[in-house]
Amino acid sequence: MTGVSVLRDNSAVEESLAKARTLPYSWYTDPGVLATERERVFNQYWLYLGHVGQVANPGDFFTVNVNNIPVVVTRDTSGDIHTLVNVCRHRGAEVIVEPKGNCRALQCHYHAWTYGLDGRLVSAPRSRQEPGFDKGDFPLRRVRTEVYGPFIFGTLNDEAPTLTEYLGEMPAIVERTGIRLDALRHRERREYLVKANWKIVVENFLECYHCTVAHPTFADVVDLDTYFLEEFEYFSTQGAPATEAYGGTDQQVREGRYNYLWPSFMLNIYPGPGNVSTNVIIPVDHETTLAVYDFFYEEAVSAEDEKAVTDLINLVMEEDIVLCESVQRGVASGVYEQGKLMTTHEHAVAHFQRLVNRSLAR
Ligand code: FES
Ligand SMILES: [Fe+2]
Repeated sequence: MTGVSVLRDNSAVEESLAKARTLPYSWYTDPGVLATERERVFNQYWLYLGHVGQVANPGDFFTVNVNNIPVVVTRDTSGDIHTLVNVCRHRGAEVIVEPKGNCRALQCHYHAWTYGLDGRLVSAPRSRQEPGFDKGDFPLRRVRTEVYGPFIFGTLNDEAPTLTEYLGEMPAIVERTGIRLDALRHRERREYLVKANWKIVVENFLECYHCTVAHPTFADVVDLDTYFLEEFEYFSTQGAPATEAYGGTDQQVREGRYNYLWPSFMLNIYPGPGNVSTNVIIPVDHETTLAVYDFFYEEAVSAEDEKAVTDLINLVMEEDIVLCESVQRGVASGVYEQGKLMTTHEHAVAHFQRLVNRSLAR
């Protein structure tokens, strides 16, 4: 199936989703569908770029690939954070090739065109000899950037709602868990490569129907009998109180709360000390996904308490990778056209699949 036929089939898929059937399995195995998703999903909404600790001081920068577009995030001398497309206006080299650093200006490693930390072109060697050359004509393209707590988001869509509008009720839900975002400090990043389509990885996150059978350790931590899921416009949230065995009531955070922001950002809070882990889902190709976890803890959390939570998250992720890769092999077999969702336990998956279908149809 190509991007064009995705468009044509949209209303049939919408009807099928209303009957609690899944998206067509061909959408998980076709490079043409991913190409359409890159354009209509990933280039249209807010994406997580990194955290403020990566640009703590004036002149700090880091580079990141956003939907196959190289970008650089900087902090200027007035403290403002900028996100710039990291592609030189001269001949198209990446301006900055280091993953991170500190500098007074961004100098291209090819012919040394030099840009300010806000993207203005400030100098180009021998440009005075060039007739009619105006530096004002060649700034780096700016990417809309907003910050929520320690999390930096950007979008390539100049028409997108503000990040605050986009997040909706999510910050209030996070705050009610007892987490103080301003007290969080980044401790660690871990990356997991999953041999599965990005949608399989998201869908696996969006239900706990599999938790009893696939995550026995997690099942001891949160009370799966009272597990809930709730959908909003661009996000869904799920979780449950800590089990008594996990000592829920003495802890700063007494519930597990797992939030998903369309299309590719997850914000996890586990019962226990002040902790947040973010998980970004990045399609590498139509059957490979990179999951990037950033682990944040409040400053006072000990290394021992940190390790207990990080180890649990790592265990759950390793168990999930086995499941996702198995699903990819199954849907790629071509034997069945689609699956069946359990409406009482998989409505957040259905919400996600509707967002996919409606975005592709635009
Ligand atoms: S490509 Fe950047 S200065 Fe030439
Ligand atoms: Fe899982």
